[in-house]
Amino acid sequence: MDAKTATKPRNAAAAAKARRAPVATPAGLGEAAAQDIGAALNALCADVFALYLKTKNFHWHVSGPHFRDYHLLLDEQGDQLFAITDPIAERARKVGATTLRSIGQIGRLQRVLDNDAEYVSPQDMLAELREDNQRLADRMRAAHGVCDEHGDMATTSLLEVWIDEAERRAWFLFEATRRGDEPGR
Ligand SMILES: [Fe+2]
Repeated sequence: MDAKTATKPRNAAAAAKARRAPVATPAGLGEAAAQDIGAALNALCADVFALYLKTKNFHWHVSGPHFRDYHLLLDEQGDQLFAITDPIAERARKVGATTLRSIGQIGRLQRVLDNDAEYVSPQDMLAELREDNQRLADRMRAAHGVCDEHGDMATTSLLEVWIDEAERRAWFLFEATRRGDEPGR
């Protein structure tokens, strides 16, 4: 029996043991971190999906003299929101948590309020989205605090970019709803 064959049973046993072992958290941050960060990220992900669809709702239903500008602005903002859903969900998986599985789960977790009104004026649409994006940035700051407590720098640094994007959307929406004769602030 050569050395390679001799060690085989032990390696096989170790592999079998490893297969039966509880699932370790991939990022090595531990169980508590996986739970806390996972919960924060999944709620955020649900919010981003809900705000994405509300932004598209307004993109589809906006009307009036600024139709083209608003329609295009909201399309751009919808794309930006949709683009971060995947990295948020995958970050939850990387830290060792599960993530969203359905529209139903999004509905249960989202804190963004839907707006199914038959008609919303363009000004009200932009004002509502501005507020939603500001609140989203606030919730991202809260999630940043949770990640910080667990030393999860990778999620905090992603959140910093996403907060900036939310604030940029809020800024565009704020400027687009200002009257042209107001002095600059
Ligand atoms: Fe479109």
